[in-house]
Amino acid sequence: MNLVETIVETRAQIRAWQKEGLSVGLVPTMGYLHEGHYSLMERAVRENDRVVVSIFVNPTQFGPNEDLESYPRDLKHDAALCQQAGVSLIFHPTPEEMYPQGFCSYVDMDVLTKELCGLSRPVHFRGVCTVVSKLFHIVQPDRAYFGEKDAQQLAVIRRMVQDLNMDITIVGCPIVREADNLAKSSRNTYLNSAERQAALVLSRAVFAGQKLAQQGETDAKKLVQTMTDIIQAEPLAKIDYVKVVDQMTMQQIDRLDKPFLAAMAVFIGKTRLIDNFMMDAVGGAAE
Ligand code: PAF
Repeated sequence: MNLVETIVETRAQIRAWQKEGLSVGLVPTMGYLHEGHYSLMERAVRENDRVVVSIFVNPTQFGPNEDLESYPRDLKHDAALCQQAGVSLIFHPTPEEMYPQGFCSYVDMDVLTKELCGLSRPVHFRGVCTVVSKLFHIVQPDRAYFGEKDAQQLAVIRRMVQDLNMDITIVGCPIVREADNLAKSSRNTYLNSAERQAALVLSRAVFAGQKLAQQGETDAKKLVQTMTDIIQAEPLAKIDYVKVVDQMTMQQIDRLDKPFLAAMAVFIGKTRLIDNFMMDAVGGAAE
């Protein structure tokens, strides 16, 4: 496995693989890899001849008062996990490599990015779309892998690929949870032990909402109310949003008669966590 920091070196390797007719999978990450990332890497390794993992804490997707500086980093641990998963190359650029002096071109998206996380993180998706499209141009993957925990991000990237005619298959992979059902996240490391316990309220709310929908409830408001009540009963939790939206457009819906996403962002102390579930429509669970 190679670890490279420059775009030139990455491109040289990609060109060599392309000449051999090898397919390439990309797993974009911000590092501090956990089992959620591991599941993406494993799938990418299964489905492609070569796999590139990018490890880059992307400054443009963090707002001024967010956790860019404190975001956890551990390259040694990440490299070991990539090696174990069978990754061929880690692309680990510096911020200057990705955003050299004078950088001023961004990929901005309307509609989908103005809801859910986009409301409390106004610059977030512009940063995500910009860095992901840069990674796509650098690596030119056949397939790219993203977790369904960031369901809005996944929908935004699918839309970007469609709108900008990028010839890349986007693969969404299921949420990976801890034994007690907390969704895996690099940010879980910020939680102290009381907060770690309180954070279980997110998955409890997700499972309650899911159960209600599986039992045939078609009123989105009832789902939101059930999930909200559960979260509000936890003193350490403060809701950013709990919403039910169309899976493709991220616009709120009233009835669960089409593929939908039930999503939440909740502060546990100072840590903002997200969780969700998706279903095709009431009566049938989506993948
Ligand atoms: O999901 C993430 O870790 C990041 O948003 C991504 C896709 C790697 C872009 O920086």
